[in-house]
Amino acid sequence: MHSSRTALTNEAEVEALLQQMTLAEKIGQMTQVEKNSIQPEDAANYFIGSVLSGGGGNPQNNTPENWAQMVRSFQEAAQTTRLRIPLIYGSDAVHGHNNVRGAVIFPHNVALGATRDADLVQRVANITARELQATGVHWNFAPAVSVPQDIRWGRTYEGFSENTELVITLGTAYVCGLQDHDPRTLASVKHFVGDGGTRWGTTRSYSWMYGNWQAPGDGYKIDQGDNQDDEATLRATHLAPYRAAIEAGALNIMVSFSSWQGTKMHAQRYLLTDVLKGELGFNGFLISDWMAISQIDEDYYTSVVTAINAGLDMVMVPFDYKAFISTLTRAVEQGDVSMTRIDDAVQRILRAKFWLGMFDYPFGRDDLLPEVGSAAHREVAREAVRKSAVLLKNEGVLPLAKDTRLLVAGSGADNLGKQCGGWSIDWQGAQGEITQGTTILEGIRQTIGGAQVSYNENGVFADDERAAVGVVVVGEAPYAEGLGDNGTLTLPAEDIAVIERMRQRVKKLVVILLSGRPLLIANPLALSDAFVAAWLPGTEGQGVADVLFGDTPFVGRLSFSFPRSIEQVPLPALKQHPDGAMFPFGYGLS
Ligand code: BGC
Ligand code: BGC
Repeated sequence: MHSSRTALTNEAEVEALLQQMTLAEKIGQMTQVEKNSIQPEDAANYFIGSVLSGGGGNPQNNTPENWAQMVRSFQEAAQTTRLRIPLIYGSDAVHGHNNVRGAVIFPHNVALGATRDADLVQRVANITARELQATGVHWNFAPAVSVPQDIRWGRTYEGFSENTELVITLGTAYVCGLQDHDPRTLASVKHFVGDGGTRWGTTRSYSWMYGNWQAPGDGYKIDQGDNQDDEATLRATHLAPYRAAIEAGALNIMVSFSSWQGTKMHAQRYLLTDVLKGELGFNGFLISDWMAISQIDEDYYTSVVTAINAGLDMVMVPFDYKAFISTLTRAVEQGDVSMTRIDDAVQRILRAKFWLGMFDYPFGRDDLLPEVGSAAHREVAREAVRKSAVLLKNEGVLPLAKDTRLLVAGSGADNLGKQCGGWSIDWQGAQGEITQGTTILEGIRQTIGGAQVSYNENGVFADDERAAVGVVVVGEAPYAEGLGDNGTLTLPAEDIAVIERMRQRVKKLVVILLSGRPLLIANPLALSDAFVAAWLPGTEGQGVADVLFGDTPFVGRLSFSFPRSIEQVPLPALKQHPDGAMFPFGYGLS
């Protein structure tokens, strides 16, 4: 594996630039604004250091060219400022440049974990960097190095594994894939720290509307909640991937919405400053999460002072940047935040911008636009899909012969949006034809020819449509973050009904599960002859057909264990349970 231990050759340049900066220019660098909340002229007027697209933060007409133009307009404005400090644009390309219509969408990290393939993950990250830079984006809010311990969490699929070692291997591979290759792209390792270890039912945040602390709405039962681990457990399970990422050259880390032992991470000076910047020697910059500092205290001044003094270097405001700037300015004038702390934050930000080469090449690489969603990029995604599919059961059915007649059914069979899951074109994702790609049904048809395949989503076929083999694709509807918190983990009733209907019609039934995490599958498993966990494979559904028909073998191994019942959730409960898992970590038939 490559290592990009950051050579600090730019310290003199950083220092010289800092000397010339006014307080307004410094605080501007520390400010990150959401793109719809600011015009390019104001990004220049306020010396804004960074602009972001949140999930679904797309231009009106969502094409790669319009994305590039949107980002360029902010960079051009930054080039008109007195010191011409480049602005850095950031977005969540968590499985490919997934907001952009037409970009390749890779399987989510839960699936990459099942590949166990660090070289593949590096290539995935590098392709993502190329598609980002084609649109002028130098900063990817990825990888998540969360180590999810409770699969009820709506962000489980953003994690590579429940196992810290596997997260370390693939997380550092991803950082290297973004940062060590051309074009150099900044990784944001997230969410620091212990986001995968929060406890069900502990989520609360400050409601500006109701003036009290409460759960932030539907879902949100564990996302943004409280991690109650002791320090030794927190370090062993959740901190270790950050140590590895820093050694691999990580220059940006995003702080988690969650709390540790009752205190919001954004206020944890010990963990952010003493441990991360001191003990682990992190010399990059810390970015807050989306409006997260507002959750520290109902008084905004207190929130800002606490967060910056805890060690936050840049704040994802993301809306009212004028309020943030005036509040932090007042805090400096009143001596509640020291000039030393401001200078340290700005140095860290400038260091990353110099390291990226942005002072010489601020505009990214629009020569790469023809590569966005290219056949070569899709080929790597297809490889990832094949290698991540885990075969859980096979009673003499797979691989399917290519001259077999097939009945295909299920809510996921011909549904690109469901295949992609959350963080796909929109923050929450969506059903149906959200972008360009190949559904699993299309992949099957391309492999064996359309004439042999009959498809009905609900599994309702005419009497003369007979076949010995049926394939049903079912699974979770798209979701992201706390809206995906789920206390039951069962398949939707309609999905079970389709499986039962198909069971009546065919001799051999193959069930393919699309999901962002293990679900409770005892019932559908019993009804099937073969069962495949295909996770959230993204745009290249052909990869699923490749393994079904034996063009490539099944090699995927579970990166998360499948529990037998909800009593075996979260992971510590499973580890203590006498019956063991239904399918343990590492399981997978060949
Ligand atoms: C944005 C996401 C963000 C979320 C936070 C959404 O509106 O699109 O990027 O993560 O809000 O709640
Ligand atoms: C998420 C982050 C994301 C940010 C920007 C937040 O809601 O927690 O993972 O990077 O939004 O979209």
